Amino acid sequence: MDVLRLATLLEELPTERTQLLDNLGRIRREVGPLTPELSDALADRMNVRRGDVHEVVSFYSFLQVPVDAVRVCTGPICDCAGSRGLLAGGAIEVPCLGHCDLAPVVLDGDAVRGGVTHSTNGFLLDPDELREPAALSQDEVLARLEAAGLTGMGGAGFPTWRKWEAVRREAPPRVVIVNADEGEPGTIKDRYVMELRPQLLLEGLVAAMRFCETDEAYIYLREEYATSRAVLEDAIAARGVPVRLVIGAGAYICGEETAMLESMEGRRGMPRLRPPFPAQSGYLGRPTLINNVETLAHVALILRGGWQPARLWSVSGVVAKPGCYEAPLDITLRALVEEHADGFTAEPGAIVPGGAASGILPPAALDTPLTREGLAEWGCSVGSAAVQVFPNGYSPVRLLAETMRFFAEESCQKCTPCRIGNRALHAVFDGERTMTREQVDEWLEAMALTSICGLGQAAPIPVRSAFAHWPELFEKMTA
Ligand SMILES: Cc1cc2nc3c(=O)[nH]c(=O)nc-3n(C[C@H](O)[C@H](O)[C@H](O)COP(=O)(O)O)c2cc1C
Ligand code: SF4
Repeated sequence: MDVLRLATLLEELPTERTQLLDNLGRIRREVGPLTPELSDALADRMNVRRGDVHEVVSFYSFLQVPVDAVRVCTGPICDCAGSRGLLAGGAIEVPCLGHCDLAPVVLDGDAVRGGVTHSTNGFLLDPDELREPAALSQDEVLARLEAAGLTGMGGAGFPTWRKWEAVRREAPPRVVIVNADEGEPGTIKDRYVMELRPQLLLEGLVAAMRFCETDEAYIYLREEYATSRAVLEDAIAARGVPVRLVIGAGAYICGEETAMLESMEGRRGMPRLRPPFPAQSGYLGRPTLINNVETLAHVALILRGGWQPARLWSVSGVVAKPGCYEAPLDITLRALVEEHADGFTAEPGAIVPGGAASGILPPAALDTPLTREGLAEWGCSVGSAAVQVFPNGYSPVRLLAETMRFFAEESCQKCTPCRIGNRALHAVFDGERTMTREQVDEWLEAMALTSICGLGQAAPIPVRSAFAHWPELFEKMTA
């Protein structure tokens, strides 16, 4: 440890509790991985209880990991592409790194091995101009968002205009936060927006700030996206807007909006009970508008006029051109892959339509429109529109085991059914433990009904859909 560097850095670091994660990130980058001694030194400097800082350090995956560590993605698409074979020599295993178009993905320090590529279409190819949002009244903005029918692209699909209206009902000062945590396995679309159309995102963000009558705005960005960070920093400087980047530290759950608020306030990223919703009481108790990156890019286009309903689909797996494609909301899986990703490269087997909790589809669903209604018939949902196509030879049981491993590792462990249930189900599908179908169903019911956030509530969806579409693979459990 460079003691002199530490002493100088500690002097420079701000002492407000909201700066804790940022300070920890700087110590990791500029001094070294957070040891108990470094954690205590920062706690003393910030006048925070030492135990509180230890709690925060141990909550995040990356704070104790050197910045030049080699990280290997073992998310389902990378697992299917053989990434576990790359784990030799001290490399660290991490869940989805958000570069599924390059699977198997390895991060060497900040650099993606093999470089960053973009395979895309639609508005991401337009020139990234710095334009001011149109001067519209709050009522006009709401009317345009409502008429466009825009719903949140972060996964929950909540009507955007309703959320904006709810924030407007609350008294200022208000806050705007962009959710750029993009941790959902298979999801790469927000990275594409940030790297290819950063000014479009900022145009939507400035429109949101004007609507909320605030100049306090944050972008919560996942740590693994070094290229996005560099591009955003330049774009923010070029526009001259007061937007602060908050860099995460490898906790998927911090993408859940209330966990994100906790993280930004300098605590462990554990979801809050709702109500109150962030629109009523969010960052430091202020009314807070939280929108996903892609949502705000659509907002910018809608407020310019002439927007056609569409979304960005992340497409990965056994397709010729994995990437991020703009396509209609009701496109079918087959059309998405054949017309945009240049077709399948192997006989498709299990297909995940929208991220870990969206469910698992059989190949028989290839001609189903990827709408809420179309997917509901298969017990699935569109989630973050992250379509992952697995080959016929990749067992749905393995996919399910990997999915439950992901939930088990990323559960914040606040709710007992989520903490124990995901772990137990992972062990069952991994073949380490047996359970009857009735026992599995009891766990699923407890998780869905009593978990406080979407992670635990939705974890049963992939299990139930796999049971429904591949009953023969789970027959032995019905004993
Ligand atoms: C476990 C979990 C993880 C989430 N991760 C993300 C994420 O990485 N990015 C995101 O935009 N939304 C994520 N969400 C959804 C957010 O809570 C929230 O709904 C979203 O940011 C709202 O923005 P939108 O209305 O524009 O979609 C996650 C939700 C859950 C339950
Ligand atoms: S459901 Fe899981 S991830 Fe969500 S708050 Fe409870 S324990 Fe944490």
